[in-house]
Amino acid sequence: MEESDPPFVEFYKNLFDNQKTNDIGVFDDVEECEVPTIDLSQLHQGGREAADCKREIAEASQKWGFFQVINHGVSLDVLEKMRCEQMKVFKKTFYDKANNHCNLNFPAGSYRWGTPSATCLRQLAWSEAFHIPLTDISNMGGLTSLSTTMDQFAMMVSNLAENLAEILAEQLGHKSNFFKENCWPSTCYLRLNRYPPCPVPSQVFGLMPHTDSDFLTILHQDQIGGLQLVKDGKWIAVKPKKEALIINIGDLFQAWSNDVYKSVEHRVVANKHRERFSVAYFFCPSYDTVIQSCVENSIYKKFSFREFRQQVQDDVKRLGYKIGLPRFIL
Ligand code: OGA
Ligand code: NI
Repeated sequence: MEESDPPFVEFYKNLFDNQKTNDIGVFDDVEECEVPTIDLSQLHQGGREAADCKREIAEASQKWGFFQVINHGVSLDVLEKMRCEQMKVFKKTFYDKANNHCNLNFPAGSYRWGTPSATCLRQLAWSEAFHIPLTDISNMGGLTSLSTTMDQFAMMVSNLAENLAEILAEQLGHKSNFFKENCWPSTCYLRLNRYPPCPVPSQVFGLMPHTDSDFLTILHQDQIGGLQLVKDGKWIAVKPKKEALIINIGDLFQAWSNDVYKSVEHRVVANKHRERFSVAYFFCPSYDTVIQSCVENSIYKKFSFREFRQQVQDDVKRLGYKIGLPRFIL
C-alpha cells in the first residue's frame, strides 16, 4: 500500500469486516485465450483482402462482441507516451488525485475510485480512474504533457473508431454517414484505469462485470492481464498481446444492429502482486442522437443517448447496478 493508492481497506472497512469469505469465482476454471486478431493492414490492400478483413470484423462482432486489431494505424510512440503519462499521473498522492485532480483542470468528478454504492465486497471495484469527456481535454487550458498526449491519442484512436463503425454498418448493408454525423471526438470519453495490487483478489473485482454504454470501445492494456469476457456462457481470460488494441461492441451498436453485433459482458480480475494499467476510448454519439435499429422489426424502442445514459444512471443509483438494453425492449 503506497500513499498513491486509494484507501480501499480503511474506507470500506465495514465491507471487509462483514465479509464471510465469499469467493467471486474469478479464478475458477477460467481459460485463457486470444480473442480473434484482425490485421487491419489488409484494408489498404483493397480488393479481396479488404473485403475479407471487413467480413472478419463483422463476424467477430457477432460471435464474440470482441476482437483485437494489429497494424491499426495508432503509432506505437503515442501508445507508449500515453502509458508513460498515465503512470505518472497515478503516481501522485491519493490526496492530490482526489482533492485537486493534480492541478490538471480535469472536470469535477473525473477522478473515481472504488464503488461508493457498494454494499458487499463483490460490488467493490479495486481500481481508480480518470474518466474524461473529450470536450474537456481541449479546455484543460494548461498544455501539460498529459493533456497533449491524451489529445494525440484521442485523435488517432477516434479515426480508428469511426473507420471500424463504418465497416460494421456497411457489413449490415448500411453505407451511411451516421457515425460521421453523430459521433465526434468531442462527444467521446477517455478513461485512464489503474488497478492497484489487491490483497484479496479472490474476493473483489478490479472492475465488476458490465457492458459498455457506447457504440464501441477501444482498449489499450498492458501485459499484466486480467480482462475477462463471456463467451458461450463462460468467462474466459483475454491473453494480452503487445501492440494490439482490443475492440468491443457496446450497447448502442447492439441496439443499432438489432442484436446482430453483441455487447458482451466483461470484467477485470484484481491482481495480488502487480498493478495494471489500461486506457479505454468510448466511441459515443452526441446526447441528442437517436438510436434505432437499422432494420425493420426492431427489438428495442428508439431512444436518445441522453435517455439511455439517464436510465443507466437512475438504475445504478436505485438498484446498485445497470440494467442497460433490456430496459428498452419493445
Ligand atoms: C472499461 C473496461 C477494461 C480494462 O473501462 O469499461 O472494461 O481492461 N476496462 O481496463
Ligand atoms: Ni468496459
